Amino acid sequence: MTTAEPRLEVAGLARRYPGLEVLRGLDLAVAAAEVVAVRGQSGTGKSTLLHCLGLLDRPDGGTIRLDGAELGALPESLRAQARARRIGFVFQAFHLLPEFDLGENVLMSARTAGIPLDQARERRSALLAEVGLSGRERADVRTLSGGERQRVALCRALLPRPALLLADEPTGNLDPATAAVVLGLILDLARRDGSSVVLVTHDPAVAARADRRMELRDGRLWPLE
Ligand SMILES: Nc1ncnc2c1ncn2[C@@H]1O[C@H](COP(=O)(O)OP(=O)(O)O)[C@@H](O)[C@H]1O
Ligand SMILES: [Mg+2]
Repeated sequence: MTTAEPRLEVAGLARRYPGLEVLRGLDLAVAAAEVVAVRGQSGTGKSTLLHCLGLLDRPDGGTIRLDGAELGALPESLRAQARARRIGFVFQAFHLLPEFDLGENVLMSARTAGIPLDQARERRSALLAEVGLSGRERADVRTLSGGERQRVALCRALLPRPALLLADEPTGNLDPATAAVVLGLILDLARRDGSSVVLVTHDPAVAARADRRMELRDGRLWPLE
């Protein structure tokens, strides 16, 4: 174990909607290269939590520190920059853009993160090789299988080497065998890059492969086991 500061440190996070307190002073610390699985019943606020951590939603209270810097209070322009450069997302529904080919879909994240094109292409080639999609840059993403789509989405998320990877039910649309392969890639690549991972899943087999498991209940995270 290291005594270094956690890479992600969330304290007192609150998010409420009219008549509904979703997150109620939630705390969470995640080390570099650590994978934390979050389980919880439908509607408990798992997606709300990821949206807040990913700076897609503004919490009503609390702090979100990434490598020591508080991100929750940044003005919108800097939030967008921090999101693009330091945070990667993988969603259940893949969210690839059908009007762009596979290679362009992966490069999207490089553009918003301000990574020079030659560097981005090099990193893209390396990532596509690791997920078994070498040479498929010109493929039409509409023709890909679910597992292939999620591997493309993973390359897009990891291209900027994000400090934090957020995954919301990333294997929810995949058959069990494909899910296991995609999950293995998410864990291996993120750990190797030192990205911290917060992985929301309903699947106990997925959660079992994380370093730590938490349950979101009553607006807070509780250790499982
Ligand atoms: N924009 C919103 N306005 C009002 N209520 C919302 C909004 N987004 C989510 N909620 C509510 O917040 C709760 C948590 O939602 P969500 O984070 O999507 O849960 P989970 O991902 O755990 O299923 C749910 O009761 C949901 O209906
Ligand atoms: Mg959800």
